[in-house]
Amino acid sequence: MMRTRPLKVALLGCGVVGSEVARIMTTHAEDLTARIGAPVELAGVAVRRPSKVREGIDPALVTTDATALLKRGDIDVAIEVIGGIEPARALIHTAFEHGISVVSANKALLAQDGAALHAAADAAGLDLYYEAAVAGAIPLVRPMRESLAGDKINRVMGIVNGTTNFILDKMDSTGAGYQEALDEATALGYAEADPTADVEGYDAAAKAAILAGIAFHTRARLDDVYREGMTEVSAADFASAKRMGCTIKLLAILERAADGQSVTARVHPAMIPLSHPLASVREAYNAVFVEAEAAGRLMFYGPGAGGAPTASAVLGDLVAVCRNKLAEATGPGESAYTQLPVSTMGDVVTRYHISLDVADKPGVLAQVATTFAEHGVSIDTVRQQGKDGEASLVVVTHRAHDAALSGTVEALRKLDTVRGVDSIMRVEGE
Ligand code: NDP
Ligand code: HSE
Repeated sequence: MMRTRPLKVALLGCGVVGSEVARIMTTHAEDLTARIGAPVELAGVAVRRPSKVREGIDPALVTTDATALLKRGDIDVAIEVIGGIEPARALIHTAFEHGISVVSANKALLAQDGAALHAAADAAGLDLYYEAAVAGAIPLVRPMRESLAGDKINRVMGIVNGTTNFILDKMDSTGAGYQEALDEATALGYAEADPTADVEGYDAAAKAAILAGIAFHTRARLDDVYREGMTEVSAADFASAKRMGCTIKLLAILERAADGQSVTARVHPAMIPLSHPLASVREAYNAVFVEAEAAGRLMFYGPGAGGAPTASAVLGDLVAVCRNKLAEATGPGESAYTQLPVSTMGDVVTRYHISLDVADKPGVLAQVATTFAEHGVSIDTVRQQGKDGEASLVVVTHRAHDAALSGTVEALRKLDTVRGVDSIMRVEGE
């Protein structure tokens, strides 16, 4: 039976994502009504600059007082697409205090304060949905939270930042330098005026924290995720990667420890073989590879950013939350029962590609090899190229603990014959 009284929606934020949410709500109103079983009405739009012209938005709906909009008593669902920590956090709490379920795209807030937000939603018997917070349009949060709820996820590895994938793809395919590729990403609207959150890996780390919590039914915050940006990746690194049949991607990697007692969460550039499915993810696309005990290997792929793709995920959540409202039910809340701790980076086990600038004289190779051996790091391959009394030495290791590799590099830096450690990159996906 179709309900005639509409469900009222407060849109908090009407920028890149919010404006597309409003557009789709209007243009697809009939379909949304049929799918939900009741009409949904855009009842108010909170923004910072009320005088800005917003196509398709009735100016009478626009307000700068988001709190008053939530408190006025007739709102059923709030869509938070403001971003950042405050006022988004306070507004979401206000929504819950007033019986309003929330859809949010805010990865920064969820990675910092997800536990408190979930607790508040739970205590109020309301929904908190956030599909758009990770990997834009790609259905990933709901499949991991619901479709894989009966399985055991052991590993998640993904490209979850479109801007950095675009930059690395350009560097790889055209030989462009980092700055040139960043400038192109900015010109095309992928990178923001201040690209720090993307290129330094904060955006990917926030998404990694959210995914780690869902994958391992535990709690992970932004601070738990080891993070390295991609600003140091050079043309020489890409040349080395090519020689190994690899490319370089900024990866988010979440792993359950072999003993099952802890997990690790990290974001850093890494070499991956060209044969790996993630190697063929081009431009600003995202892809996430999930390894589950019974399901095996699953790959989720698609646009990870942009107004319309992200709005698609927000609208999917809106439909789910509205259906729950009509059924007087709520969807799944936070599942953090395992309470598995997140280990430090030193506990991660992987392979490494190390490029050294050394003196080209007898005994140097032996000295370098001994240093690796003394730290328990086994060498897989060594390649040396000499010129004018100096040599470039590229060492690829077998799997070793990150702590052991760090110790090795510290010792190598102290050797008189090692003039510099040019680059250290992890090798994944083999
Ligand atoms: P924008 O900066 O484009 O939009 C932010 C909106 O919030 C603007 O409409 C702004 O108003 C409004 N706003 C800012 N401060 C306030 C305030 N104090 N009260 C009311 N409204 C306010 O951000 P995006 O649309 O790009 O991002 C929104 C969210 O979606 C973020 O959490 C982001 O991480 C997430 N996201 C974004 C993606 C993307 O591709 N852009 C992809 C995936 C997630 P005004 O218009 O007046 O300036
Ligand atoms: N800046 C982010 C990216 C937006 O480039 O992927 C999507 O979260």
